[in-house]
Amino acid sequence: MSLMKKEILMFLVVYYFLQFVLCFAIRPPFIYFQTSNNSQNLRLEPTFVNPEDWGAVSALNNTPRLKNPVPYVIFYQTNTEECKNRTQCSKVVSRIQKMRRKLMHDDIPYNFLVGGDGLVYVARDWDTTSGVTNGYNGKSIGIGLIGTFFSKLIPDTLIRTAINLIEFGTRNGKINESAHYISIPPMAFIVQDVDEVMKKFMEKFDYSHS
Ligand SMILES: *[C@@H]1O[C@H](CO)[C@@H](O)[C@H](O)[C@H]1NC(C)=O
Ligand SMILES: *[C@@H]1O[C@H](CO)[C@@H](O)[C@H](O)[C@H]1NC(C)=O
Ligand SMILES: *[C@@H]1O[C@H](CO)[C@@H](O)[C@H](O)[C@H]1NC(C)=O
Repeated sequence: MSLMKKEILMFLVVYYFLQFVLCFAIRPPFIYFQTSNNSQNLRLEPTFVNPEDWGAVSALNNTPRLKNPVPYVIFYQTNTEECKNRTQCSKVVSRIQKMRRKLMHDDIPYNFLVGGDGLVYVARDWDTTSGVTNGYNGKSIGIGLIGTFFSKLIPDTLIRTAINLIEFGTRNGKINESAHYISIPPMAFIVQDVDEVMKKFMEKFDYSHS
């Protein structure tokens, strides 16, 4: 981790605690910095891992259908450990499903999960309402970032994989071109090597809802 990143991380942690002390919401900034103009950000199709391949316990519930294209994309954290390969990520995703079934008699709440291995784990898929209860039910695609990131940098791979997923969904009429992106809780999407696509992604973040 470079000195720059360390300083930003410190700043975020301090901010996170300050917001409770001061009793009003100071939102962590969604910072990005440009370090070069090379085309490291190749636009790739996301690679999907289907429920039967990550070990889903049974067919997913018949939850209400989504009206596509949705106007919101919501980023969540799974509140679990991070994962680095397909075996490990599949285990985490499967565990989330089992826990959720046991404790809430509901299915895995996200539409998709994104792992540190750069793969997209399909949960409720594009056409079903996500199970996280908030004002965005029925009008959002919910993406679970595998890990716990409220006071930690989100690895580059997760951000890039999520962008590929959103682009794919937008191209295929599942996400509105002018959708707002929201992070619950507010997480810091800090990336290096920003290109036009990345810039556009960052500009679609809506801080007023987090
Ligand atoms: C980045 O590179 C491309 C092509 O090489 C060029 O068209 C563009 O203006 C550059 N952008 C910046 C911000 O330098
Ligand atoms: C996947 O990651 C876990 C945890 O880091 C490790 O124990 C395991 O050997 C890895 N598996 C493969 C196939 O690389
Ligand atoms: C996308 O969102 C914009 C702005 O809210 C809206 O005007 C437009 O009709 C939406 N497009 C579709 C295809 O629903």
